Amino acid sequence: MTYENIIVSEQGAVGIIQFNRPKALNALNAAMITELNTALDAFQMEVAIGAIILTGNEKAFAAGADVREMKDKTFAQVKDENFLHDWDHINTITKPIIAAVSGFALGGGCEYALACDLIIAADTAKFSLPETSLGIIPGAGGTQRLVRAVGKAKAMDMILTGRMIDAGEAERSGLVSRVVAAAQVMEEAILVATKIAALSRPVAKAAKYAVNSAAELPLSEGLKLERSAIHAMFDLYDQKEGMAAFLEKRTAKFENR
Ligand code: CAA
Repeated sequence: MTYENIIVSEQGAVGIIQFNRPKALNALNAAMITELNTALDAFQMEVAIGAIILTGNEKAFAAGADVREMKDKTFAQVKDENFLHDWDHINTITKPIIAAVSGFALGGGCEYALACDLIIAADTAKFSLPETSLGIIPGAGGTQRLVRAVGKAKAMDMILTGRMIDAGEAERSGLVSRVVAAAQVMEEAILVATKIAALSRPVAKAAKYAVNSAAELPLSEGLKLERSAIHAMFDLYDQKEGMAAFLEKRTAKFENR
């Protein structure tokens, strides 16, 4: 598959997808989303890949949905095509996804980062949901995921004012997992992704599923889901191997089964 709007590569067991419309600060157009979904599916199916990194370039992770492309759309059109439904595809990927963010992560760019499982930010990263200044509201999960990530006070501030927050504020607010120097952001993301990819795959997927379920379920239901998931782990070869390796003071050799 050849891509025009993204660059796809692999490093060991890590699949890397880089947004690649630098002249438009990686504004996310329909062609790019189609390519992104194809690449995500390919990594999801690729047995050798255990974790995925989504990234941009030094200046921008992505500066939002492509305003030029959506400016003239009508209500009838967006309803008919169910505009943005294809942005939800990332939610179907069960392998862990890390966003490595440098520069602008705005609007839909910020929303894609929020849809990833963890965000590693460069100290140059800037996050905002400026949609209200364009006469719309965030539409790719921003009003829901940002509240869950940073709480109502900060989310309401960011969404109603469009205020841009820097990497430090994003880390203090719980929006990002770690902040590193800009030159180190990919190195750090690859280290983290490689560590995750070395876990037993069914265990990594179960952990992702259980943590993401916390945002969907009442506590009692989430606790039940967690309990039945950990019980199921005891049917895994990798549970026996992981615990035996610990007791024998050696590195576990997981077989993803
Ligand atoms: N859509 C289309 N083009 C965009 C874009 C976007 N979201 N963001 C940047 N660009 C383009 C600019 O139009 C410009 O193109 P030209 O050179 O052809 O004029 C190029 O990228 C460089 O941008 P700037 O000249 O503006 O660069 P700057 O350094 O002066 O400013 C910026 C950078 C602050 C990020 C500014 O570009 C900006 O504010 N961008 C728009 C951000 C935005 O509003 N995003 C939300 C989109 S709506 C959305 O995402 C909806 C949703 O929920 C899914």
